[in-house]
Amino acid sequence: MCGIVGYIGDRDACPILIKGLRRLEYRGYDSAGVALVGGDGSLNVYKCKGKIDALEHFLADKDTAGTVGIAHTRWATHGEPNDTNAHPHFSADGRIAMIHNGIIENYRVLKDALTAAGVTFRSETDSEVLVNLIEYVRDTEGCTLEEAVRLALKKVVGAYAIAVVEKGNNDKIIAARQSSPMAIGVGKGEYFISSDASSIVEYTHDIVYVEDGEIAVIERGKPLQLVTLDNEEAEYRVTKLDISISDLEKGGYPTFMLKEINEQPRTIVDCIRGRVNADSGRVILSGIRDNIDRWLAARRVVFVACGTSWHASLIGKQLFENICRIPAEVEYASEFRYRNPVLFPDDIVIAVSQSGETADTLAAISLARKAGAFVYGICNVIGSSIARATDSGTYVHVGPEIGVASTKAFTGQVTVMAMMALAIAERKGTVSKEYYDEVAQGLLSLPEKLKEVLELSGQVADLAKIFTYAHNFIYLGRGYNYPTALEGALKLKEISYIHAEGYPAAEMKHGPIALIDAEMPTVAIVTPDVTYEKTLSNIEEVKARGGKVIAVMAKGDATVPGITDYVIEVPAVIDCLMPIIVSVPLQLLAYYIAVYKGRNVDQPRNLAKSVTVE
Ligand code: AGP
Ligand code: GLU
Repeated sequence: MCGIVGYIGDRDACPILIKGLRRLEYRGYDSAGVALVGGDGSLNVYKCKGKIDALEHFLADKDTAGTVGIAHTRWATHGEPNDTNAHPHFSADGRIAMIHNGIIENYRVLKDALTAAGVTFRSETDSEVLVNLIEYVRDTEGCTLEEAVRLALKKVVGAYAIAVVEKGNNDKIIAARQSSPMAIGVGKGEYFISSDASSIVEYTHDIVYVEDGEIAVIERGKPLQLVTLDNEEAEYRVTKLDISISDLEKGGYPTFMLKEINEQPRTIVDCIRGRVNADSGRVILSGIRDNIDRWLAARRVVFVACGTSWHASLIGKQLFENICRIPAEVEYASEFRYRNPVLFPDDIVIAVSQSGETADTLAAISLARKAGAFVYGICNVIGSSIARATDSGTYVHVGPEIGVASTKAFTGQVTVMAMMALAIAERKGTVSKEYYDEVAQGLLSLPEKLKEVLELSGQVADLAKIFTYAHNFIYLGRGYNYPTALEGALKLKEISYIHAEGYPAAEMKHGPIALIDAEMPTVAIVTPDVTYEKTLSNIEEVKARGGKVIAVMAKGDATVPGITDYVIEVPAVIDCLMPIIVSVPLQLLAYYIAVYKGRNVDQPRNLAKSVTVE
């Protein structure tokens, strides 16, 4: 939700800001804008509805000189996406410009008070209220910009990452953060601000993560200074970020999503590297090893997550219960945070998040910590807020995921959960050596099997062509494949805008079966496990009602082709790892249907990659 960037240094700010916005476009693309302070102190703001391309076009004949600037790509929360509501926002007298990611929850009260004091507003956003509050404080207190920002923020309730510049001062940017991400890149005589540290790596690998309640005073030629809302100096650490630029580019693929789907054989290698020993088959995860007493004493694990990470958690629940015999629950972070959940001190809360920035998951973590639970993170983005807010964790290590639809992060998350379950089971003695070895060998075999699955791309694309007409889809699966069905349906919904539902195959007869007709295709996942025979019956039930069935089945299965209309044959692996294989053709099916429908798969409408608002 919204990407913010900033630059101060010796170079021309505008091209750096635009490039930064492009890297952050996954966070929102309702509108974009830039504010530049020229060498003469002039403050120029350019903004318009639409994507970064539209902004670049708009800027073509404008004066974009200046070595300090801030820029924004928006995912609207308050006020429709239009030119006026686009960021940066000006204070009423036009002296201060600000960009904002987050929501000012008490904006109505503040707006009423400012209106009563004679302030006029141009936009419908909550953000414009904050920039006016800053100006108001500065005028009434007669203080510096940083002091005005600090005092204004003390009156604010909500989430924000902001950056502020002022007319007449091309030496300074003030930035601040509460619950929305913010990283500052430290270069030689220059600073970069971004919602996502990976967007800065082409300039510097030295990153300072601004913490909640901190204000950064970023001045040309001076060391970075961080202060708290109570005006105390805050210490900070410069972290080295180990990401290469090629990870952030499409690498010859037409879209990030297709690149990320195709990367999975390699990303699984990265995910298991140094964790599953290729010779001994032993799984070692430092996050488990270093906290083994807690894991052995765990009464229960509670997964908290959203979206695709929630689907991965449903698989995690089964892995933990089956392999290490720890009872597990899976909660939507957004629900968990507003309930009064029962948590015991010996519970372990596992927060799962690709971005590590999802606001609901962060809030669930802080609730769990208050209740005294040990919180473990499964994150992909290194140094992200969730990774830093948890007690310990395991990184997914699949590299930056830029396509809005999560693909390689999902298969990586499930892989991590399987490794965790094995590492705990070894110490608890809950599985036989044979079973442990079979899962460990299964993990090691994944990269080769995923390569085989990707060879089906052409066949899946042909199938997609046949079904592009459909308005509704149903995805069925049981056991480990039930969450995979949910995930397949979510992929289709979010990028093709076709309505799709995932169901446990047997549950279908309790209602959704009424939807079955020749127009509504069913994708059935039917691979060897304890529910195999039962799932065959569920497929028969669909066929008996005239439904068309596309089955995802294990290679060599002689039964399924006889009772279904189309089959996708994937290599088999032990049942608990099957979702990692099966989800790939489902990603491809959604991908090609969306492409045939002419959708923008990397940036589907209304969505944003990183949901940092409630
Ligand atoms: C996945 O395709 C979605 N775009 C979305 O559901 C996502 O998984 C969800 O917003 C959670 O994000 P996170 O993993 O970064 O926390
Ligand atoms: N609330 C701001 C707006 O609607 C920022 C939204 C966001 O960060 O997603 O413009």
